[in-house]
Amino acid sequence: MHKRTLTGYTVAALALGATTAQAEIDLDAGEQLNNEVCVACHGATGVSDVPEWPSHAGQHKDYIVYHMELFRDENRWDPEFLMTPNATELSDEDIRNVAAWLEKQDPPPSQDVDEELAEQGREIYHSGIADQNVASCASCHGPNGEGIKGGQFAAVAGQQEIYLNDSLTAFKNEDRESDRNRMMRDTAGRMTEEDIEAVSAYMASMTLLDDEDE
Ligand code: HEC
Ligand code: HEC
Repeated sequence: MHKRTLTGYTVAALALGATTAQAEIDLDAGEQLNNEVCVACHGATGVSDVPEWPSHAGQHKDYIVYHMELFRDENRWDPEFLMTPNATELSDEDIRNVAAWLEKQDPPPSQDVDEELAEQGREIYHSGIADQNVASCASCHGPNGEGIKGGQFAAVAGQQEIYLNDSLTAFKNEDRESDRNRMMRDTAGRMTEEDIEAVSAYMASMTLLDDEDE
């Protein structure tokens, strides 16, 4: 079934079939798509070795699906326009399969960072910045940077430091608008560049615990 030829009837049928479709995740197909396409920029097991480009190993599949759909609709911040062309031809099944496969990969290791900077960032991450009305990051991204499963709250532990920094800056500058209810634009908007650098170093240095229960 092709997305561009959906009729009212097939949309209704898809809605009815939604629960069944969820059960039909094909991890092998997800791995194959990763090996054919995503590997070039995000690594063989979803751990990126390019500082500007994100890792996805262990990331929540719902978060990945949401962003892939935005890229496919050419509606997600993509500063180098590298990602969008890789999403436009993907089907819903492709997206679900690759997201489920990526979620199951071993999370990225703790990144090497400037320890002093990360120490400053630790405070911000866990306690927020009261004077600037910045909430604690841990309240939405978890005490270990694990995010919240089944939602849009991204895992951030071990993510590439420069990608984190660039993403927070893009929220601050209102370039990236994918955050529902402006949750991140409002948060980053109240942070200085130095706050952003510090908390990015800290998040990159965190280790995501492996989650086997799904
Ligand atoms: C040519 C390089 C390239 C290829 C190939 C590529 N991507 Fe990306 N992708 C990027 C870049 C660069 C970004 C970061 C955009 C930004 O700065 O926000 C990105 C971002 C993403 C994001 C958003 C991450 C986040 O934390 O919000 C997801 C999800 C993603 N890619 C999945 C995939 C998948 C799945 C594939 C394979 C089907 C793929 N990408 C193929 C370059 C690529
Ligand atoms: C009220 C909840 C909330 C708080 C508090 C919050 N975040 Fe977020 N954050 C989110 C949501 C939701 C997203 C996903 C936005 C999207 O889908 O683009 C996100 C996304 C991010 C991303 C992008 C992840 C990626 O892979 O692209 C970074 C980085 C981030 N947050 C860092 C922080 C930091 C640092 C703090 C604390 C200063 C913080 N967040 C506080 C909800 C929150």
